[in-house]
Amino acid sequence: MIVMETLEEIKRDILNCKKCPLHLTKKNYVPGSGSGSAGVVFIGEAPGREEDLKGEPFVGSAGKLLTEMLSSIGLTRDEVFICNVLKCRPPNNRDPLPEEVEACGKFLIRQLNTIKPELIVCLGRHSASFIFDLFGLQFSSITKLCGKVFEVEEWGKKVKILPLYHPAAVLYRPQLREEYERHFRLIGELCGKGRKQKTLFDF
Ligand code: URA
Repeated sequence: MIVMETLEEIKRDILNCKKCPLHLTKKNYVPGSGSGSAGVVFIGEAPGREEDLKGEPFVGSAGKLLTEMLSSIGLTRDEVFICNVLKCRPPNNRDPLPEEVEACGKFLIRQLNTIKPELIVCLGRHSASFIFDLFGLQFSSITKLCGKVFEVEEWGKKVKILPLYHPAAVLYRPQLREEYERHFRLIGELCGKGRKQKTLFDF
């Protein structure tokens, strides 16, 4: 008999994790937040300074942009699930190491198996390359893939995967903002929020 675990049970395991040395340098574990019944999961790379202090994902400046983008398509943070590949902050926000991704990624896989989302939004290349590997898709670069919708069969249904720029990249390069807004309108359409934008072909 397969017994499904809850997000709370996974959170309890995350809060006790000592599988890699990041638990020694972090201030707080950052398991993820929002609704498990959402059907939409946003996945970032790893907690930053603010997230480490608060134990919540995406609460710093990149998080403010993410919250703003969600609100622009009529979604609140509580209506979706937001998390990261790593649940502990790497010192000085360095890139995740392969062994950290290997160890911590198992929690993310358990979270996805519990939520069984219809749409997975990957924020940035670390998240996208993890999710592409997981679902047997070929990852190239975030610049090439961002804004393109991929579809896989999982949990007995079709699941969409959308790689996007990390919000921090958009803060760093404001010229990406317009494209980012377009990508979020696409998320709105994919999850039935917001109106389909008219294209030239609709006229
Ligand atoms: N960057 C991430 O990838 N995740 C966070 O939670 C915050 C910043």
